[in-house]
Amino acid sequence: MKILGIETSCDETACAIVEDGTKVLANELFSQIDLHAETGGVVPEVAAREHVLKMIPVLDKVLAKVGDFDAIAVTKGPGLISSLIIGTTTASVISQVRKKPIIPIHHIEGHIYSNWLERTDDPPKFPALILTVSGGHNELYLMRDHGLLELLGETRDDAAGEAFDKVARLLGLGYPGGPAISKIASKGDCKKFALPRAYLEKGSFDFSFSGLKTAVLNLVKENGLTPEFVTDCAASFQEAVCEVLSDKVLAALEKFNPAEVHLAGGVSANLRLRELTKEKIGDRALFRHPVKMGYCTDNAAMIASCGYFQRDLAKIGNVTPDPNF
Ligand code: KG4
Ligand code: ZN
Repeated sequence: MKILGIETSCDETACAIVEDGTKVLANELFSQIDLHAETGGVVPEVAAREHVLKMIPVLDKVLAKVGDFDAIAVTKGPGLISSLIIGTTTASVISQVRKKPIIPIHHIEGHIYSNWLERTDDPPKFPALILTVSGGHNELYLMRDHGLLELLGETRDDAAGEAFDKVARLLGLGYPGGPAISKIASKGDCKKFALPRAYLEKGSFDFSFSGLKTAVLNLVKENGLTPEFVTDCAASFQEAVCEVLSDKVLAALEKFNPAEVHLAGGVSANLRLRELTKEKIGDRALFRHPVKMGYCTDNAAMIASCGYFQRDLAKIGNVTPDPNF
């Protein structure tokens, strides 16, 4: 079964066609990163205007590669309403004109399914422990089966990606903050500054990153933005975030004994996070298939994959956007 995925929840206009939830037949996206780098963040009206301009050209590219499809999966939310509306309207029109059933997708569930892409012969096994770390989300789930997600913990304030973006701004680094910090952090001393790690109450799988952000702000005020300070501070910050994330994964692993461990969302592209997670899991072969780099940040292949596993919900008609889905 071939599913056309459409994703426009934030600042990527993305379309893909995926077969049986795993085989990526076409995957195209237009990233607005350069545009938003000028303003240091996403301006919703600017993002929406770009989606309008790029939606059809991106769609045309995947349809030129794969002529037909059986159903459409589109991101319903969460995300920016003015961005979501372009993808859901496009998908709804295609559904009704071409008489194809449509499936509404939760963006973060979509990220989780990036772990199914290109694993045709060896799909993830349940129960799976999944850490979702993106710009807006930071959760730890035990996934017992498709559609059976048990929330173990979530952030009480900022998501990890949001913390990367805010700290990058404090350090005068570019947008988006995650890639900028990880690039410079590889040259810095991660032990230079003892930044706080919020583990919260004993046994808690929740997260908190706002104290860490405040600690960086205080360091910036004390030290000023010299190149050496920025490099070491970026490395120390990255280490603090990745240590807490990987420690919580390890604690959940000991408690729930999952068959596999997965990272999902933009921050899962972070090499130090992958390295620490591997290190803490040790010999146990639970983290063997980290998501391919291009599928960590927003894309439509993950949305199409999620749609395949939720195809029971498909019907011809409309999907309305919901920023708080
Ligand atoms: O999943 P995503 O593309 O969009 C959301 O759903 O939010 O995630 C974007 C987030 C941004 O906060 C970005 O700074 C972060 O992922 N990110 C990274 C890296 N690449 C992207 N964070 C840390 N290290 C990276 N290499
Ligand atoms: Zn995302």
